Amino acid sequence: MLNMIYATEPTLTLALTTKDWLGLTYLLAAMLFYLGLKMLSKVTTARRGNLVSALGMLVAIAATFFQISGGESISLIWIVIAILIGGGGGLILAVRVPMTGMPEMIALLNGCGGIASLLVASGDYLRTSDAQLAGLPWNTLLAIGLATLIGGLTFTGSLIAYAKLAGSKFIPDAPVQFAGQKVLIAVLGLGSLALAGVLVAQPSAWYVLFLVAVLSLILGVLLVIGIGGADMPVVIALLNSYSGIAAAMAGFVLDNSALIITGALVGASGIVLTKIMCKAMNRSLMNVLFGGVGGAVAGGKGSADQGEARSFTIEDAAIVLDAARSVIIVPGYGMAVAQAQHAVKELGQQLESRSIDVKYAIHPVAGRMPGHMNVLLAEADIPYEQLQDLEQINPQFEQADVALVIGANDVTNPAARHDTASPIYGMPILDVDKARTVFVIKRSMNPGFAGIQNELYFKENTGMIFGDAKKVVTELSAELSSS
Ligand code: TAP
Repeated sequence: MLNMIYATEPTLTLALTTKDWLGLTYLLAAMLFYLGLKMLSKVTTARRGNLVSALGMLVAIAATFFQISGGESISLIWIVIAILIGGGGGLILAVRVPMTGMPEMIALLNGCGGIASLLVASGDYLRTSDAQLAGLPWNTLLAIGLATLIGGLTFTGSLIAYAKLAGSKFIPDAPVQFAGQKVLIAVLGLGSLALAGVLVAQPSAWYVLFLVAVLSLILGVLLVIGIGGADMPVVIALLNSYSGIAAAMAGFVLDNSALIITGALVGASGIVLTKIMCKAMNRSLMNVLFGGVGGAVAGGKGSADQGEARSFTIEDAAIVLDAARSVIIVPGYGMAVAQAQHAVKELGQQLESRSIDVKYAIHPVAGRMPGHMNVLLAEADIPYEQLQDLEQINPQFEQADVALVIGANDVTNPAARHDTASPIYGMPILDVDKARTVFVIKRSMNPGFAGIQNELYFKENTGMIFGDAKKVVTELSAELSSS
């Protein structure tokens, strides 16, 4: 009987079209992107998160590849050539670029994303006949204009950011500002937006799109040239967000959900990162974009107002370290410049072998790019558990015998807590001055990024150890091991 019922029951078949399969595969890729991004937010899972996101990209590329091979009027050979050039270039960059060159590399990659969106949107526009253009919905036409506009300014802006970071002879590191610059930027920005609107009203006016492209390229240069080199990491995070928005726009043009989702993710995460960086520096985005910081020495007290700094020898510092029970190491930009991370790890091990408790204090904007210190210390295989962020470590300085500041400056300046005239007033800092003894390793009394003298250097419990971070740290290790 049962057999009869089953035999007569209509069978439910789920027939998926190629488009459905494509959609599902893109959904899988998007889920991998989300997962990867989530994992990137923790030091312990970041490396795997990167791999998961890369797998998502592989899935998306494979899906697009099969979509093209299944009917698009494009020769596969071009796709293979593009993959070889793009993939080969990416591989060479990934292998060759040193950790300290990451900001430059990201600037270049953002630029590539921007120009790709510009080319995809305008290329799709140019290959569409006038009659088809007239039938396009207004939002697709607007997406073409916006992908071109945002893609163009991301491209040239990223190139300028790259040149500033790479110390190019042709683009000065200091902010290049001139009278009427902001007005010109506003006019160009609003003008190109208006032109993108004109394209909606006159879809076949190709010269309007051409004008949008030209104006956007000029706009990118003007926007970034006025910002100081040291602010480039914030600018790069912002340009990263722009490149995502441009990609999402290109996704609307192509009706490609993977591109829309990825673009939106990049756009949103880039803007969140920009906000985090501005907050950690206690500066507004407007101040970063138009404040022209990073050139001349800014306000706050100079060294003349603060007395004398005490200099320590390696031998004296080693004696104090040897007697300590807890040491907090505070790395900063100077450690990155000196590439001292491996030497720092050895010193840490040397201290631990004497039963000294060692921790590393990580300020969110120490160095010149987000996660700069985490990346360098991870490269030296320093255990993640020893890296503590600002909120975790600050209450511990009072109990620490020694705070060993290695090439950090602004992120340790107590003026940020009380000197309202200081340009870093209000920036959260590492409370190193509360440790029993503070040693600061740097080459001179020169200021750091903010261009101001550091009150810390003139405090009674602070000793300066002058020299290159790698050299001093290596010598400290050697001194400790011989004692
Ligand atoms: P800084 O305040 O810039 O100070 C770095 C110090 O390292 C300098 O005073 C320099 O002094 C020293 N130094 C340079 N090369 C050295 C070497 N080879 N050996 C030893 N010391 C060396 O760095 P920080 O404390 O890390 O703070 C970061 C600053 O950058 C903050 O003001 C932050 O707002 C800004 N910033 C950060 C970011 C991100 S995302 N991290 C982005 C934009 C701006 P000497 O020349 O005397 O050696």
